[in-house]
Amino acid sequence: MTAVNDSTVRDPDAWRADMVRALRDQDAITSEPVGAAFAAVPRHRFAPDTPLDIAYDLHRTVPVKKDEHGLDISVMSAAHLQAVMLEQADIEPGMKVLEIGSGGYNAALIQELVGSKGAVTTVDIDRDIVDRARRCLDDAGYDQVKTVLADGEAGVPDGAPYDRIIVTVAAWDIPPSWINELGEKGRLVVPLTVRGTTRSIAFDRDREGLVSHSYRLARFVPMQGEGAAKERKALLRDGVAVQTDDEGIPFNTKALNHALDTPRREFWSGAAYDLPDELELYLTVHLSSAARLHASKDIVDSGLVEASALLGVPALVSEDSIAYRTRRENEDTGGFESGVVAHGLQAEALADEYLKLLRRWAQDHRRRGAATIRFLPGPAPSTPPQNTVLKRHGVVTVSWH
Ligand SMILES: C[S@@+](CC[C@H](N)C(=O)[O-])C[C@H]1O[C@@H](n2cnc3c(N)ncnc32)[C@H](O)[C@@H]1O
Repeated sequence: MTAVNDSTVRDPDAWRADMVRALRDQDAITSEPVGAAFAAVPRHRFAPDTPLDIAYDLHRTVPVKKDEHGLDISVMSAAHLQAVMLEQADIEPGMKVLEIGSGGYNAALIQELVGSKGAVTTVDIDRDIVDRARRCLDDAGYDQVKTVLADGEAGVPDGAPYDRIIVTVAAWDIPPSWINELGEKGRLVVPLTVRGTTRSIAFDRDREGLVSHSYRLARFVPMQGEGAAKERKALLRDGVAVQTDDEGIPFNTKALNHALDTPRREFWSGAAYDLPDELELYLTVHLSSAARLHASKDIVDSGLVEASALLGVPALVSEDSIAYRTRRENEDTGGFESGVVAHGLQAEALADEYLKLLRRWAQDHRRRGAATIRFLPGPAPSTPPQNTVLKRHGVVTVSWH
């Protein structure tokens, strides 16, 4: 008997209805207008060569273009993340919206949200992507969306001020144009990478710059062009790497690699481990010398590095020592307890600093959304305050209440 592929017999409308229902069930869609936009735009028309089950999968991206190493440089973003970001953006009918990073689908969703009296401009740095987005938008009946070929680092001055700017590519910084082109009561939604982790942050204006209204973990392809991230990555050995965007951090690749061969020390905090993304934000801005440790599955299976490093874990590094977070089951702390693995001559001192932070977070800040993230444009202060991450066009500060 020939197997029947479900995606060939079901109607795209049925796939779309299921997707919208699931996005609501998972609280990605929380408002009527965003639900109606997802129900209206035929997502599969923006991924014409993709089977319907993939095009309508909540969490899958659809590859559009890869670089010479086979890495994605353009994808149709996952529907779940698009819904979350559109909810963060709180778009109203009649608004003028700029999208940075095109594909067509998200711009069509935005067009549904702003309606016929609003205006949507989408800009991409890649001619193939702009041409493709244009074709898909016209084909799906969204010819009123304006497509622009340019480096989004400069925004799109022709059309400013915008009520909303939505960036759909991982940005390492916030260039002046995005703030200048934002209306007085505007909101910027941007997947901002801070110390190796990207969060979609909805920023509103405040007296000194931008202040977060909400933030959510997000994954995006990295920005190209003028605003591309400048990160240092060091391969310690096959399958183990450290990465940092902080120029003040010493990286002695040889000494750090050697440290991994010194006995591993374990330290336990007695504090609960949960809400890893919130804990991580706290750690990365408080650790005095923060990097990110990555390890491959083979390395983790070999026992050299803990599984926490599979997706990258905040690490505290010195010239020749390294400490990073781990966890173990512990009923007394409500499921898991956080701890530290450390290697090298300063293992104990690094672990001590790390443990204090794990305990302080668990005691005072263990809640979702407890942080306020600010972006202060302009030159960095000569003595930057604590919890500050320096960028090219300003500084990011994070506070907890
Ligand atoms: C995740 S895709 C955009 C997805 C899209 N918004 C959608 O509807 O699904 C990210 C896009 O950002 C673009 N991009 C990268 N750097 C850029 C830059 N500096 N300015 C404008 N676009 C950029 C890439 O070419 C890519 O097409």
